[in-house]
Amino acid sequence: MKRTRVSDIYADSAALVGKEVCVKGWVRTRRGNKHVQFVALNDGSTIRNLQIVLDMQAFTDEQLKPVTTGSAICVTGLLVESMGKGQSVEVQAKTLEVYGTADPEAYPLQKKGHTLEFLREIAHLRPRTNTFSAVLRVRSALAFAIHKYFQERGFYYLNTPLITASDCEGAGAMFQVTTLNLDELPRTEEGKVDYSQDFFGKPTALTVSGQLEGELGATALGAIYTFGPTFRAENSNTARHLAEFWMVEPEVAFIDINENMDLAEDFLKYCIRYALDKCRDDIEFLSEHYDKELIQRLESVVSQDFVRLTYTEGVKLLKESGHKFEYPVDWGVDLQSEHERYLVEHYFKRPVILTGYPKEIKAFYMKLNDDDKTVRAMDVLFPTIGEIIGGSEREENYDKLLKRIEELNIPMKDMWWYLDTRRFGTVPHSGFGLGFERLVLFVTGMANIRDVIPFPRYPKSADF
Ligand code: 4AD
Ligand code: MG
Repeated sequence: MKRTRVSDIYADSAALVGKEVCVKGWVRTRRGNKHVQFVALNDGSTIRNLQIVLDMQAFTDEQLKPVTTGSAICVTGLLVESMGKGQSVEVQAKTLEVYGTADPEAYPLQKKGHTLEFLREIAHLRPRTNTFSAVLRVRSALAFAIHKYFQERGFYYLNTPLITASDCEGAGAMFQVTTLNLDELPRTEEGKVDYSQDFFGKPTALTVSGQLEGELGATALGAIYTFGPTFRAENSNTARHLAEFWMVEPEVAFIDINENMDLAEDFLKYCIRYALDKCRDDIEFLSEHYDKELIQRLESVVSQDFVRLTYTEGVKLLKESGHKFEYPVDWGVDLQSEHERYLVEHYFKRPVILTGYPKEIKAFYMKLNDDDKTVRAMDVLFPTIGEIIGGSEREENYDKLLKRIEELNIPMKDMWWYLDTRRFGTVPHSGFGLGFERLVLFVTGMANIRDVIPFPRYPKSADF
């Protein structure tokens, strides 16, 4: 008999009641007495379990013995309206097949109440918990919303390389990629590592951003977006950083920083609204268990205009606030997440887009303002998260870009292809990068970024 997913049973229960169904999934709990046994079955399609009722006149104790928490079973039976509390329908089992047992002595997910820290140590099994299955369904829906948003608005999905010889952000936090034997490195006459013998004939690393190649796409196709993994070897052991994370990078020709802000705001609101519509059960579950204000916060973000403020104005507000920050703030410093969150959570009580940062604290490609001091950067700051998006209008003037590259001592010969976009048919253009896990973090209300990606990568941790 063909399997029906539990989510489809609930979605169509009125039509299915009185009919025979076949369901397959993992046992969450089994309880009952010698007359009747109840199994809570979960198949991953919804946060909701399906109750299976086993009349012990039709089944033997021996048959039920392997049906323990974590085991996988197939049940056929009649779908009926439930008389018990807590569920609308249940299955009166006719047949029961056990696919795989789960030794109660060994299976770590007995009942509820494990800490998130413990679950991180068993990341291979945590998708079987309510929390992680909910997070992973929300993550999947958000990924789809991202593609849908851009595809429906004339953006082309561009795949940029993961192995690269250029450092987009200039932060130097790259993972080197090499096939050289580290125990016996080939040396040049001057004693340096001889990269001409390496796989690509030069030093390469995993990309920190697809933006530079994204700009090549945008200045040909008009508007593109990337959506793929990026890697940063920054040793930040925080609840907001991963060493491997997914970034969404739209890049658009003929738009300036203001239109870029409009795009970022509309895009974020669309994705959050999409998740609120499509993942209601999961978000309600997460809200109930982790963050009582979650739904209200999500709704407030989609319904309010984001504040737009310059860095200079922001720093002034922070200095005048009288608030004692761990890191003192002054014009020229890079803002810490405590500063960002103060503006968003205490001062404005809604998302803030900060623009016009000092050029010294931003990347080489950002368009210089007429003051020669600030660049057309934009950071979108969110409640509970801090920076969720970083972007800018790009320097499209060849000479100014070259000057900046020289000032920062970026090796010119590696950048020839990037500079060519400014030599041939250059146009104003802008784009931004959204940290996908930071969006998932915001929408699920989880506290740690390691809990919104199936298999997190962070310093000293690359298991699973
Ligand atoms: O602000 P960032 O460094 O900007 C760029 O990489 C630009 N090239 C983007 C562009 O304009 N196309 O990174 C963009 C976003 C951040 O705002 C943050 O949300 C996320 O990526 N991010 C991280 N997320 C998780 N772990 C990390 N280590 C992250 N570093 C940045
Ligand atoms: Mg940034």
